Amino acid sequence: MKNIVLIGFMGTGKSAVGRRLAARLGREFVDTDEEIERVTGKTIAQIFARDGEIRFRSEEALVVKKIAARENLVVATGGGVVLNPENVRALQKNGVLIGLTAAPEIICRRVKRKRNRPLLNVPGDVLERIKTLLAGRAEAYAVAEFTVDTGGLTVDGVVERIVAYL
Ligand code: S3P
Repeated sequence: MKNIVLIGFMGTGKSAVGRRLAARLGREFVDTDEEIERVTGKTIAQIFARDGEIRFRSEEALVVKKIAARENLVVATGGGVVLNPENVRALQKNGVLIGLTAAPEIICRRVKRKRNRPLLNVPGDVLERIKTLLAGRAEAYAVAEFTVDTGGLTVDGVVERIVAYL
């Protein structure tokens, strides 16, 4: 069976939904960020701080390649995975790409609860930063064949929408 691959911006619920969706379908769940932390022995924040974003993206591409070669998974991707066309091609080959979205204000509220997003950890207004990044990435997230707005929904609500689509 093809992998179910969740894509979308930070704070749209990919990890929470992915975990619940995997349980619902009796599949294994894999999170690209967790996998990067496992293979490098560093946190995402440490990789950005010590090695820089370019190094993070190459670690990410290696992890994506390995995951894309497997089957039957539910995969939660980091928000920047689809910026690399090679990652998209690999994931599409053996997977259904499902997009998760949310309004910038909702994303802002969600990401403020956790302070582990280096790309949002910059001086200035976080909401403005989110809006700018989102605008620049809209096209990349449009590769999803089905998209759910997670704004007004519970995790289970999102899971049911995805299951109904599949
Ligand atoms: C990133 C999103 C993060 C993580 C890294 C970069 C991005 O993952 O991969 O901080 O470029 O959007 P989440 O989407 O799980 O927060």
